[in-house]
Amino acid sequence: MERDLSNYRKSYKKNELLLENTSENPFELFRDWFVEVDQYKEIDEANAMTISTIGLDGFPKSRVVLLKKYTSEGFIFYTNYNSEKGKAIRANPNVCLSFFWPAAERQIIIKGQAEKVPESLSDDYFESRPRGSKLGAIVSNQSQPIKDRDVLEKKLKSLESQFEGREIERPEFWGGFIVKPIELEFWQGRPNRLHDRIRYKLETPQNWKKERLSP
Ligand SMILES: Cc1cc2nc3c(=O)[nH]c(=O)nc-3n(C[C@H](O)[C@H](O)[C@H](O)COP(=O)(O)O)c2cc1C
Repeated sequence: MERDLSNYRKSYKKNELLLENTSENPFELFRDWFVEVDQYKEIDEANAMTISTIGLDGFPKSRVVLLKKYTSEGFIFYTNYNSEKGKAIRANPNVCLSFFWPAAERQIIIKGQAEKVPESLSDDYFESRPRGSKLGAIVSNQSQPIKDRDVLEKKLKSLESQFEGREIERPEFWGGFIVKPIELEFWQGRPNRLHDRIRYKLETPQNWKKERLSP
């Protein structure tokens, strides 16, 4: 099977990113970009991001998760701590996040270290989820092989009756990670493949070195 995609070509011309117009603080630029792309009608889940981890098998693995909060400390998402990514992070907290917003011709790549958020934060977020999502988190031994879909449906049914009329508490194997960045790169597509790339590197706590990279 073969298909040649060499004539897939798009010219990028929507925006520009100039060093002199960017904040000294990358979190501010992240916030500005996020607020902007969140208003694009074409962008459905602006908070969808790819997280790459180094697995226990030594291979990198990327998958999409949803950014649920950003602060001046880092980027927070929720998952099963016993999932493949959870185990990978436990062994090696170095991760890479990336956002790609085609409608804005923008990409952000963030290297950082992931750590569990305080339990109270995970509790609060879990509490805010719809009942079905709460039960779903309990039902799924995320990343474990299962025989068929029936296994999940049956477990869900049994939990529904078990928890009927009762509060559903966050299981301890489920919660948030915060990724605290050491490097952020902002990429803006430009004509003739001469894209704008601005990279921030953490030099000392609170002190970011900002530079333009060749596309
Ligand atoms: C749009 C989208 C959003 C997702 N959001 C999450 C999420 O917030 N948390 C999560 O654990 N998995 C999320 N997933 C599923 C993950 O991509 C992945 O399948 C799952 O976390 C298991 O990954 P792992 O086995 O590598 O740990 C999402 C998938 C997609 C496509």
